[in-house]
Amino acid sequence: MKIIGGSASQLLASRVASRLGCELIRVEYKRFPDGESYVRVQDDIDEVLIIQSTVVDSDWICLLQLIDACEGAKHIRVVIPYVGYARQDSQSHPGEAISARALAKTVHADEIFTINIHNPSILKYFSGKARDLDAAPSIGRYVSSLKLNKPIIIAPDNGARALAESAASNLGIDFDVLEKKRLSGDEVEIRAKHLDVTDRDVVIIDDIISTGGTMAETIELLRRQKPNDIYTACVHPVLVRDAVSRLFQAGAKDIIATDTIEKGVSVVSVAPIIAEALK
Ligand code: R5P
Repeated sequence: MKIIGGSASQLLASRVASRLGCELIRVEYKRFPDGESYVRVQDDIDEVLIIQSTVVDSDWICLLQLIDACEGAKHIRVVIPYVGYARQDSQSHPGEAISARALAKTVHADEIFTINIHNPSILKYFSGKARDLDAAPSIGRYVSSLKLNKPIIIAPDNGARALAESAASNLGIDFDVLEKKRLSGDEVEIRAKHLDVTDRDVVIIDDIISTGGTMAETIELLRRQKPNDIYTACVHPVLVRDAVSRLFQAGAKDIIATDTIEKGVSVVSVAPIIAEALK
Protein backbone atom coordinates (compact mmCIF):
# COMPACT_ATOMS: atom_id res chain seq x y z
CA MET A 1 0.00 0.00 0.00
CA LYS A 2 1.21 3.51 -0.85
CA ILE A 3 0.10 6.62 1.00
CA ILE A 4 -0.94 10.02 -0.30
CA GLY A 5 -0.91 12.97 2.08
CA GLY A 6 -3.58 15.46 1.03
CA SER A 7 -2.79 19.16 1.22
CA ALA A 8 -4.30 19.45 4.73
CA SER A 9 -2.77 16.30 6.25
CA GLN A 10 0.85 16.15 5.09
CA LEU A 11 2.42 15.65 8.51
CA LEU A 12 -0.14 13.10 9.70
CA ALA A 13 0.21 11.12 6.44
CA SER A 14 4.00 11.05 6.89
CA ARG A 15 3.59 9.79 10.45
CA VAL A 16 1.19 7.03 9.34
CA ALA A 17 3.55 6.07 6.48
CA SER A 18 6.49 5.73 8.83
CA ARG A 19 4.47 3.66 11.33
CA LEU A 20 3.29 1.29 8.60
CA GLY A 21 6.57 1.28 6.69
CA CYS A 22 4.73 2.42 3.54
CA GLU A 23 5.95 4.64 0.74
CA LEU A 24 4.61 8.19 0.49
CA ILE A 25 3.60 9.28 -2.99
CA ARG A 26 4.49 12.77 -4.22
CA VAL A 27 1.60 14.84 -5.56
CA GLU A 28 1.82 17.93 -7.71
CA TYR A 29 -0.54 20.65 -6.47
CA LYS A 30 -1.09 23.89 -8.38
CA ARG A 31 -3.74 26.45 -9.26
CA PHE A 32 -4.85 27.63 -12.68
CA PRO A 33 -5.02 31.38 -13.31
CA ASP A 34 -8.80 31.35 -12.69
CA GLY A 35 -8.27 29.84 -9.22
CA GLU A 36 -9.22 26.23 -10.02
CA SER A 37 -7.01 23.70 -8.28
CA TYR A 38 -5.09 20.90 -10.04
CA VAL A 39 -3.60 17.72 -8.66
CA ARG A 40 -1.45 15.07 -10.33
CA VAL A 41 -0.43 11.91 -8.50
CA GLN A 42 3.17 11.21 -9.56
CA ASP A 43 3.25 7.42 -9.35
CA ASP A 44 1.50 4.24 -10.45
CA ILE A 45 -0.76 2.91 -7.75
CA ASP A 46 -2.21 -0.48 -7.00
CA GLU A 47 -3.34 -0.09 -3.40
CA VAL A 48 -3.59 3.39 -1.95
CA LEU A 49 -4.42 5.19 1.26
CA ILE A 50 -5.39 8.87 0.95
CA ILE A 51 -5.32 10.96 4.14
CA GLN A 52 -6.97 14.36 3.93
CA SER A 53 -8.87 16.40 6.51
CA THR A 54 -11.54 18.68 5.12
CA VAL A 55 -11.19 21.84 7.19
CA VAL A 56 -12.01 24.35 4.45
CA ASP A 57 -13.94 24.00 1.20
CA SER A 58 -10.81 23.65 -0.95
CA ASP A 59 -9.80 20.61 1.16
CA TRP A 60 -12.98 18.83 0.03
CA ILE A 61 -12.13 19.59 -3.62
CA CYS A 62 -8.59 18.28 -3.07
CA LEU A 63 -9.92 15.06 -1.50
CA LEU A 64 -12.27 14.41 -4.43
CA GLN A 65 -9.50 15.15 -6.94
CA LEU A 66 -7.11 12.76 -5.21
CA ILE A 67 -9.71 9.96 -5.16
CA ASP A 68 -10.41 10.56 -8.84
CA ALA A 69 -6.70 10.60 -9.68
CA CYS A 70 -6.40 7.13 -8.12
CA GLU A 71 -9.25 5.69 -10.19
CA GLY A 72 -7.08 2.94 -11.68
CA ALA A 73 -6.09 1.59 -8.27
CA LYS A 74 -7.32 -1.86 -7.20
CA HIS A 75 -8.15 -0.75 -3.66
CA ILE A 76 -8.70 2.80 -2.38
CA ARG A 77 -8.82 3.61 1.32
CA VAL A 78 -9.53 7.11 2.53
CA VAL A 79 -8.95 8.61 5.97
CA ILE A 80 -10.76 11.90 6.65
CA PRO A 81 -9.37 12.71 10.11
CA TYR A 82 -11.50 15.86 10.50
CA VAL A 83 -14.75 15.88 8.56
CA GLY A 84 -15.74 19.48 7.96
CA TYR A 85 -19.46 20.32 7.70
CA ALA A 86 -20.23 17.42 10.09
CA ARG A 87 -22.01 19.81 12.44
CA GLN A 88 -24.54 20.54 9.67
CA ASP A 89 -26.06 17.12 10.23
CA SER A 90 -29.78 17.95 10.42
CA GLN A 91 -32.34 20.55 9.42
CA SER A 92 -33.32 23.29 11.87
CA HIS A 93 -35.52 25.04 9.31
CA PRO A 94 -37.32 23.76 6.20
CA GLY A 95 -35.28 24.15 3.05
CA GLU A 96 -31.89 23.89 4.74
CA ALA A 97 -29.28 21.64 3.19
CA ILE A 98 -28.02 18.78 5.34
CA SER A 99 -24.52 19.67 4.22
CA ALA A 100 -22.83 16.77 6.02
CA ARG A 101 -24.95 14.38 3.96
CA ALA A 102 -24.42 16.30 0.72
CA LEU A 103 -20.64 16.14 1.06
CA ALA A 104 -20.36 12.60 2.43
CA LYS A 105 -22.29 11.34 -0.61
CA THR A 106 -19.53 12.60 -2.89
CA VAL A 107 -16.88 10.35 -1.32
CA HIS A 108 -16.55 6.98 -3.06
CA ALA A 109 -13.88 4.54 -1.85
CA ASP A 110 -13.51 0.91 -0.81
CA GLU A 111 -12.99 1.88 2.84
CA ILE A 112 -13.42 5.21 4.63
CA PHE A 113 -12.17 6.07 8.12
CA THR A 114 -13.01 9.14 10.16
CA ILE A 115 -11.93 10.15 13.66
CA ASN A 116 -14.52 11.22 16.24
CA ILE A 117 -16.83 12.47 13.51
CA HIS A 118 -19.26 14.96 15.06
CA ASN A 119 -22.25 12.68 14.41
CA PRO A 120 -21.55 9.03 13.52
CA SER A 121 -24.89 8.77 11.69
CA ILE A 122 -23.19 10.66 8.83
CA LEU A 123 -21.10 7.55 8.10
CA LYS A 124 -24.01 5.90 6.30
CA TYR A 125 -23.89 8.53 3.54
CA PHE A 126 -20.36 7.69 2.39
CA SER A 127 -20.15 5.36 -0.61
CA GLY A 128 -17.97 2.63 0.87
CA LYS A 129 -17.50 0.81 4.14
CA ALA A 130 -17.11 3.58 6.73
CA ARG A 131 -15.78 3.40 10.28
CA ASP A 132 -15.18 6.03 12.96
CA LEU A 133 -12.05 5.80 15.14
CA ASP A 134 -11.77 7.14 18.68
CA ALA A 135 -8.87 9.45 19.60
CA ALA A 136 -10.09 10.06 23.16
CA PRO A 137 -7.97 7.30 24.80
CA SER A 138 -4.84 8.88 23.23
CA ILE A 139 -5.82 12.26 24.71
CA GLY A 140 -6.42 10.53 28.06
CA ARG A 141 -2.93 8.99 27.99
CA TYR A 142 -1.42 12.42 27.27
CA VAL A 143 -3.37 13.94 30.17
CA SER A 144 -2.15 11.12 32.39
CA SER A 145 1.48 11.85 31.39
CA LEU A 146 1.11 15.44 32.65
CA LYS A 147 0.91 14.15 36.23
CA LEU A 148 -1.84 16.60 37.15
CA ASN A 149 -3.14 17.18 40.66
CA LYS A 150 -6.21 14.93 41.30
CA PRO A 151 -7.23 15.34 37.62
CA ILE A 152 -10.84 15.25 36.49
CA ILE A 153 -11.97 15.21 32.84
CA ILE A 154 -15.16 17.18 32.28
CA ALA A 155 -17.54 17.22 29.31
CA PRO A 156 -19.15 20.65 28.80
CA ASP A 157 -22.43 18.98 27.74
CA ASN A 158 -24.01 15.58 27.20
CA GLY A 159 -22.82 15.54 23.58
CA ALA A 160 -19.21 15.26 24.82
CA ARG A 161 -19.93 12.85 27.70
CA ALA A 162 -18.85 9.72 25.80
CA LEU A 163 -15.61 11.47 24.83
CA ALA A 164 -14.83 12.33 28.48
CA GLU A 165 -15.61 8.78 29.54
CA SER A 166 -13.49 7.29 26.77
CA ALA A 167 -10.53 9.59 27.61
CA ALA A 168 -10.68 8.75 31.32
CA SER A 169 -11.52 5.05 31.32
CA ASN A 170 -8.71 2.58 31.97
CA LEU A 171 -6.49 5.36 33.35
CA GLY A 172 -8.02 5.74 36.78
CA ILE A 173 -8.95 9.36 35.99
CA ASP A 174 -12.34 10.68 37.13
CA PHE A 175 -14.76 12.13 34.59
CA ASP A 176 -17.98 14.06 34.82
CA VAL A 177 -20.36 16.16 32.76
CA LEU A 178 -21.62 19.65 33.48
CA GLU A 179 -25.26 20.06 34.34
CA LYS A 180 -27.55 23.03 34.61
CA LYS A 181 -29.52 23.34 37.85
CA ARG A 182 -32.28 25.92 38.21
CA LEU A 183 -32.02 27.47 41.69
CA SER A 184 -34.91 29.91 41.29
CA GLY A 185 -36.94 31.60 38.55
CA ASP A 186 -33.97 33.61 37.35
CA GLU A 187 -30.98 31.83 38.84
CA VAL A 188 -29.20 28.94 37.18
CA GLU A 189 -26.16 27.13 38.54
CA ILE A 190 -23.93 25.10 36.26
CA ARG A 191 -21.70 22.55 37.98
CA ALA A 192 -20.18 19.12 37.54
CA LYS A 193 -23.02 16.61 37.90
CA HIS A 194 -21.44 14.16 40.36
CA LEU A 195 -18.01 15.37 41.48
CA ASP A 196 -16.55 18.36 43.30
CA VAL A 197 -13.78 20.11 41.29
CA THR A 198 -12.48 22.25 44.17
CA ASP A 199 -8.66 22.17 44.36
CA ARG A 200 -8.44 19.68 41.50
CA ASP A 201 -6.86 20.07 38.04
CA VAL A 202 -9.63 20.02 35.47
CA VAL A 203 -9.44 19.04 31.79
CA ILE A 204 -12.48 20.13 29.78
CA ILE A 205 -12.85 17.97 26.67
CA ASP A 206 -14.95 18.46 23.53
CA ASP A 207 -14.79 17.01 20.02
CA ILE A 208 -14.20 20.41 18.37
CA ILE A 209 -12.95 23.78 19.55
CA SER A 210 -13.95 26.28 16.90
CA THR A 211 -14.47 29.86 18.15
CA GLY A 212 -13.61 28.78 21.69
CA GLY A 213 -16.98 30.08 22.91
CA THR A 214 -18.12 26.81 24.50
CA MET A 215 -14.80 26.29 26.29
CA ALA A 216 -14.46 29.92 27.45
CA GLU A 217 -17.95 29.84 28.95
CA THR A 218 -17.29 26.49 30.61
CA ILE A 219 -14.01 27.76 32.11
CA GLU A 220 -15.79 30.81 33.49
CA LEU A 221 -18.50 28.69 35.12
CA LEU A 222 -16.09 26.15 36.57
CA ARG A 223 -13.81 28.82 38.05
CA ARG A 224 -16.57 29.72 40.51
CA GLN A 225 -16.04 26.28 42.06
CA LYS A 226 -12.37 27.05 42.77
CA PRO A 227 -10.60 24.31 40.82
CA ASN A 228 -6.83 24.28 40.56
CA ASP A 229 -5.56 24.54 36.91
CA ILE A 230 -8.01 24.25 34.00
CA TYR A 231 -6.85 22.65 30.72
CA THR A 232 -8.87 22.50 27.52
CA ALA A 233 -8.71 19.48 25.22
CA CYS A 234 -10.28 18.52 21.92
CA VAL A 235 -9.84 16.08 19.08
CA HIS A 236 -10.21 18.68 16.32
CA PRO A 237 -8.53 22.08 16.87
CA VAL A 238 -10.46 24.13 14.31
CA LEU A 239 -9.56 27.27 16.32
CA VAL A 240 -10.97 30.04 14.16
CA ARG A 241 -10.46 33.77 14.68
CA ASP A 242 -8.93 34.56 18.10
CA ALA A 243 -10.00 31.27 19.73
CA VAL A 244 -6.53 30.60 21.17
CA SER A 245 -6.26 34.03 22.84
CA ARG A 246 -9.84 33.68 24.01
CA LEU A 247 -9.11 30.42 25.82
CA PHE A 248 -5.95 31.68 27.50
CA GLN A 249 -7.68 34.92 28.44
CA ALA A 250 -10.50 32.90 29.97
CA GLY A 251 -7.91 31.20 32.17
CA ALA A 252 -6.93 28.01 30.35
CA LYS A 253 -3.54 26.70 31.42
CA ASP A 254 -3.03 24.96 28.06
CA ILE A 255 -4.80 23.62 24.97
CA ILE A 256 -4.39 19.92 24.17
CA ALA A 257 -5.41 18.67 20.73
CA THR A 258 -4.65 16.03 18.11
CA ASP A 259 -3.19 16.33 14.62
CA THR A 260 -6.46 15.64 12.79
CA ILE A 261 -5.95 19.33 12.08
CA GLU A 262 -2.27 20.24 12.12
CA LYS A 263 -1.83 23.16 14.51
CA GLY A 264 0.70 24.23 17.14
CA VAL A 265 -1.53 22.71 19.85
CA SER A 266 -1.61 19.28 18.14
CA VAL A 267 0.46 17.49 20.79
CA VAL A 268 -1.31 14.12 20.42
CA SER A 269 -0.95 12.23 17.15
CA VAL A 270 -3.74 10.05 15.77
CA ALA A 271 -1.21 8.24 13.54
CA PRO A 272 -1.03 5.20 15.88
CA ILE A 273 -4.80 4.65 15.85
CA ILE A 274 -4.97 5.02 12.05
CA ALA A 275 -2.05 2.62 11.63
CA GLU A 276 -3.66 0.13 14.01
CA ALA A 277 -7.01 0.28 12.17
CA LEU A 278 -5.27 -0.42 8.86
CA LYS A 279 -3.24 -3.41 9.98
C1 R5P B 1 -20.86 21.34 19.09
O1 R5P B 1 -21.82 20.61 18.97
C2 R5P B 1 -19.46 20.84 19.21
O2 R5P B 1 -19.42 19.63 19.89
C3 R5P B 1 -18.58 21.87 19.90
O3 R5P B 1 -19.04 22.04 21.23
C4 R5P B 1 -18.63 23.19 19.21
O4 R5P B 1 -18.40 23.00 17.84
C5 R5P B 1 -17.59 24.14 19.76
O5 R5P B 1 -17.68 25.33 19.04
P1 R5P B 1 -17.14 26.69 19.64
O6 R5P B 1 -15.68 26.49 19.96
O7 R5P B 1 -17.34 27.69 18.52
O8 R5P B 1 -17.96 27.01 20.84
